[in-house]
Amino acid sequence: MNALWLCVTVIVTGFSVQAQLNSNCNSNDSIVLKRFMDGMESAIDGWTSNSSNCCDWDGITCDSSGKVIGLELPKRKLIGNLFVSLTNLDQLRTLNLSRNLLKGTLPVSIFQLPYLQVLDLSANEFSGSLPATVNLPSIQLLDISDNNLEGPIASGFCISSGIRVLKLGVNYLTGEIPLEFENCSSLEHLSLDANFVSGIIPEYLFRLPRLLRLSLQDNELIGQLRNSNLSNLVYLDVSLNYLSGKLPDIFDNFPNLTYFAAHSNNLNGGIPLSLLNSRSISSLILRNNSFSGLIELNCQAMVNLVLLDLVDNKFTGSIPGNLPSCLSLKTIDLGGNNLTGQIPESFKGFNSLFYLSLSMCNLNNLSGSLQILQNCPNLTTLVLSRSFDSEEMPSDANLQFKRLKTLVIPNCKLTGMIPVWLNGLTKLQILDLSWNELTGRIPPFLGHLQSLLYLDLSNNYLNGEIPKSLTQLPDLQFHENQLEFSLEFPVFMRRGMNGNVLRYSYGTRFPPTLDLSNNFLTGPIWPEFGNLTNLHVLNLKYNELSGTIPSNLANLTSIETLDLSHNDLTGEISLSLVRLGMLSKFSVAYNNLTGIIPSGGQFSTFSVSSFEGNPGLCGEFVLSCVNNQESVHARVFEDVEESIISLPVWTGFGIGFLFAVILLLVLPRVRDTHSMDKFE
Ligand SMILES: *[C@@H]1O[C@H](CO)[C@@H](O)[C@H](O)[C@H]1NC(C)=O
Ligand SMILES: *[C@@H]1O[C@H](CO)[C@@H](O)[C@H](O)[C@H]1NC(C)=O
Ligand SMILES: *[C@@H]1O[C@H](CO)[C@@H](O)[C@H](O)[C@H]1NC(C)=O
Ligand SMILES: *[C@@H]1O[C@H](CO)[C@@H](O)[C@H](O)[C@H]1NC(C)=O
Ligand SMILES: *[C@@H]1O[C@H](CO)[C@@H](O)[C@H](O)[C@H]1NC(C)=O
Ligand SMILES: *[C@@H]1O[C@H](CO)[C@@H](O)[C@H](O)[C@H]1NC(C)=O
Ligand SMILES: *[C@@H]1O[C@H](CO)[C@@H](O)[C@H](O)[C@H]1NC(C)=O
Ligand SMILES: *[C@@H]1O[C@H](CO)[C@@H](O)[C@H](O)[C@H]1NC(C)=O
Ligand SMILES: *[C@@H]1O[C@H](CO)[C@@H](O)[C@H](O)[C@H]1NC(C)=O
Ligand SMILES: *[C@@H]1O[C@H](CO)[C@@H](O)[C@H](O)[C@H]1NC(C)=O
Ligand SMILES: *[C@@H]1O[C@H](CO)[C@@H](O)[C@H](O)[C@H]1NC(C)=O
Ligand SMILES: *[C@@H]1O[C@H](CO)[C@@H](O)[C@H](O)[C@H]1NC(C)=O
Repeated sequence: MNALWLCVTVIVTGFSVQAQLNSNCNSNDSIVLKRFMDGMESAIDGWTSNSSNCCDWDGITCDSSGKVIGLELPKRKLIGNLFVSLTNLDQLRTLNLSRNLLKGTLPVSIFQLPYLQVLDLSANEFSGSLPATVNLPSIQLLDISDNNLEGPIASGFCISSGIRVLKLGVNYLTGEIPLEFENCSSLEHLSLDANFVSGIIPEYLFRLPRLLRLSLQDNELIGQLRNSNLSNLVYLDVSLNYLSGKLPDIFDNFPNLTYFAAHSNNLNGGIPLSLLNSRSISSLILRNNSFSGLIELNCQAMVNLVLLDLVDNKFTGSIPGNLPSCLSLKTIDLGGNNLTGQIPESFKGFNSLFYLSLSMCNLNNLSGSLQILQNCPNLTTLVLSRSFDSEEMPSDANLQFKRLKTLVIPNCKLTGMIPVWLNGLTKLQILDLSWNELTGRIPPFLGHLQSLLYLDLSNNYLNGEIPKSLTQLPDLQFHENQLEFSLEFPVFMRRGMNGNVLRYSYGTRFPPTLDLSNNFLTGPIWPEFGNLTNLHVLNLKYNELSGTIPSNLANLTSIETLDLSHNDLTGEISLSLVRLGMLSKFSVAYNNLTGIIPSGGQFSTFSVSSFEGNPGLCGEFVLSCVNNQESVHARVFEDVEESIISLPVWTGFGIGFLFAVILLLVLPRVRDTHSMDKFE
């Protein structure tokens, strides 16, 4: 996949338009740019209306004779109406260009710049529809993605013979892919992601001799993928459309395809032979379809396969034992299929394996599986949510996972104790054993795992005191660490109901967390918890903790969620907790607290539910000191609801994005595509 990114980078950076600072702006171009500027709702930074030389303006590139060859103003929050059917310059000249009067509706056409090679107005707020005709004879790169453009895709973009990159993604474009694109012979990269483009995927796109990258993700395309001619395509993404039927056996015609994503369509049947034998494919992403049958990759052929994502399909059989002979395979996610049996013995020699997720499969023999997987020297992430059922937590003290950073085995009804072999997982950052039936105490050695930042042992039957060592976890104490759970996974984009761009990926930011809720823990909340200044979530609800709430918790400067509800805590709520400026979720409900609820700070945002069920507690604004007894009755219903909502994020790893995809950025109208850029 690296080769692919490299290739794409070359395409984009291939346009090195040279700024010539001293040249005087071509007068015709200057007029067009001034109109463009006047059509904006607010001023463009770095452009001055009284500087006659537009070559000096920010984002403008001129050639040596002053011709404007580059206009690049991405991510400027520019608001205006770019495209209109007005093509007559004289008509434009007669318009009153007073900015205030014409707020946001001025018809300006910048498609009158005959020398323009690069036009980048991505990630702004331009609206209107695309012009029927475009007069940009020199254009090579045109990026107007991530705006509010609507209407059909203009057919005129390909009239210029030189266009190499055309990005129209993340708008509201409708209609079919225009037939005129069959003549876009120099096109290397076409992206129409996240629009409402309909119809079939025209076969002529695959015949475009230079086209390397085609991204049609999240549209309304129907029918089947067809291609009867050899294609140069390297990157093809048709995910999140309405493609149906079987995937035809056409991949021999894509000898250079390294990235193929068709997730979230209505595809069924088996994976076609030509795909199972592809020598070029590096990433194969078919999740969330109805593919069925056995998973039968030909690893002798698939020498370049790095990422295999077949999550949420109807594949059956056992986990293919030949996967280790796919010599480049690093990342495997087969969750949400009806795979049965256990991890094959052959995985013992799976040296390249880096990430393995088998959530929501019907596996058995966790103990034997771990015995095998411990021999994968590069295994860093192991996700087995809901993969096993009611087995015993393997307790063999000799199990070794030297490189493991993420171990996730929730929702398996595992019995037994928290195992001693975790002691040796010195690289561990994320440990999730929630929603099992583990008993016994929390072993103190967990507090000595030097890198642990995310510990979820909630919803088990653990008892005893919370080991004090947990308050000494170094990464929770000192570092400003946020876990970036980033793999070589793609980012998925969709437009939300309200027009915002939603970005999905498997990755997430894990807030530093201690979740020990829903157990039978007793004893005090150690004052030393106050040392965990990097902790973002502390959840101790539904235990039997007693004693007071230590005032030291006021030192938890990063804390966002602090839930101590449903314990046996006594005493008063320390006034100093009001200092916690990041605190957005707080509850001490259903304890035996007394005194006055502090007011001010974030406390003014908490409601009665954060404090109810403490007969001795009263507060000026929240509860009256006499009348707070009856709220206790709500308890039973609340329990049920909470336990559903608080299903651990990992549960979803098998069922696709439902819970697991935590990086779901609901960006406001002003969007930042930065995170996307590194994938482009
Ligand atoms: C401006 O456009 C007019 C009409 O197309 C043309 O005759 C003239 O040469 C252009 N001027 C420059 C400086 O390019
Ligand atoms: C116009 O130019 C003058 C002198 O160069 C400068 O001081 C002034 O700020 C400019 N006005 C605007 C609106 O840019
Ligand atoms: C443009 O409109 C403004 C506001 O109505 C007006 O004050 C100004 O005189 C007009 N200018 C021209 C050239 O018509
Ligand atoms: C593509 O170009 C050919 C040759 O110039 C022309 O005959 C054909 O009509 C063009 N196709 C479209 C859809 O414009
Ligand atoms: C593409 O395929 C069609 C139909 O199979 C065939 O008629 C045509 O000659 C092929 N074109 C090229 C350039 O191979
Ligand atoms: C595939 O890539 C190779 C090497 O980069 C290149 O020579 C070839 O033309 C490309 N296209 C096809 C269809 O093989
Ligand atoms: C799965 O695909 C369907 C369409 O087939 C889509 O509606 C749904 O949102 C997808 N689910 C996820 C979690 O992406
Ligand atoms: C899963 O597969 C097993 C055996 O292949 C079968 O008995 C079982 O019914 C399947 N379960 C589902 C939910 O399809
Ligand atoms: C294991 O990982 C190391 C470091 O990332 C890498 O150099 C090595 O090639 C990997 N081993 C295999 C067999 O892929
Ligand atoms: C942890 O907290 C305790 C009590 O609040 C304090 O005495 C101790 O110095 C702290 N330790 C570290 C390493 O900060
Ligand atoms: C932590 O809190 C306690 C009690 O509120 C206080 O005495 C102590 O100085 C604080 N320590 C730090 C490191 O802020
Ligand atoms: C709450 O604490 C008081 C003493 O402070 C005690 O008398 C009472 O029994 C406690 N209530 C519960 C439900 O534990």
